[in-house]
Amino acid sequence: MSSPCAKKRKIDQDTIAVQRWKILKEILINGRSSLLTSENRASVRRFKSFNVLQTQQDDGTDREEDWFIYTAEKWPHFKMYIRHLSNHVKPEALRGFNNTGNVCVWPAEEVLTYYCLSHPEMFNGKSVIELGGGMTCLAGMALSIMSDVSYMELTDGNEDSVSNLDEIITRNSFQFKDTRVLSRVVRWGSGKTGQDLNGVFDFVLCADCFFFEEGREDLVETIYRLLKDDGEAILFAPKRGNTFEAFVTLAQSLFNTDVKERYDDTIWTIHCKMKNKGKVMYDPDIHYPWFLHISKKTNREKTDLKE
Ligand SMILES: C[S@@+](CC[C@H](N)C(=O)[O-])C[C@H]1O[C@@H](n2cnc3c(N)ncnc32)[C@H](O)[C@@H]1O
Repeated sequence: MSSPCAKKRKIDQDTIAVQRWKILKEILINGRSSLLTSENRASVRRFKSFNVLQTQQDDGTDREEDWFIYTAEKWPHFKMYIRHLSNHVKPEALRGFNNTGNVCVWPAEEVLTYYCLSHPEMFNGKSVIELGGGMTCLAGMALSIMSDVSYMELTDGNEDSVSNLDEIITRNSFQFKDTRVLSRVVRWGSGKTGQDLNGVFDFVLCADCFFFEEGREDLVETIYRLLKDDGEAILFAPKRGNTFEAFVTLAQSLFNTDVKERYDDTIWTIHCKMKNKGKVMYDPDIHYPWFLHISKKTNREKTDLKE
């Protein structure tokens, strides 16, 4: 016999599943879903944000349902204009290249953004690339506005995401000071796009990209080839079963790795509060991003590992 708690969990899960099917049905029939408004997304994905960034619809544009103004209470002067694609996921897109970055901004991307904004001086004068940044590359975009990065490359493997990044860059370009901000398709693995970018970057940024079984090794190799010898990568991802560990294990052959569960007091406090609300609302395994810092091993360190 199942307990009342298990029954409630089952009902909640059924409700989420029904919502998802409704959204998919609307997208297939109409090419968009009215259920994917910012308020409803919370109930479908339960926890959606740590709320360290605030969003409001940008009613100063013709397509106001697509554009959002992002601000942060901690940095009163910070403001960026971000276009979401979530209302426009077309049926054919569901069959095309990975579309997970066009559905929403995942909590790990929000946390990566918050982390970067909290340490802007690290990036001054540096070349930075964001990989798998989805439709917004929120962290890379925020740094382009709030730090003195010399060159920022915003990337994803999905062409629709990158077209959207082009629009976001144009809209925010008045805020870039001396930073050169570009975007392009970079796919990890087959075809190895972006060979001209090899060895160019001081920093790689990446959020919530470890859970693709087939892409993990390619992602490790891509980070390695894009970084300068003394380059480093700042990566955030939830545990999602053993996928975080699987990535760290692969990375250890080429990189020195540093994993942190607790990396920021504000995020940690929100995490602890959310945990009290229970797993149906907030499941740390899929919602709480862990921090991974990696830096390239020297040839000597790699040889030592083999012996
Ligand atoms: C879960 S989304 C994360 C998007 C964004 N970082 C966020 O957290 O909101 C994973 C992203 O990885 C990208 N991706 C998956 N496989 C890829 C590959 N082989 N090459 C490049 N990008 C890839 C997807 O297009 C998607 O945007």
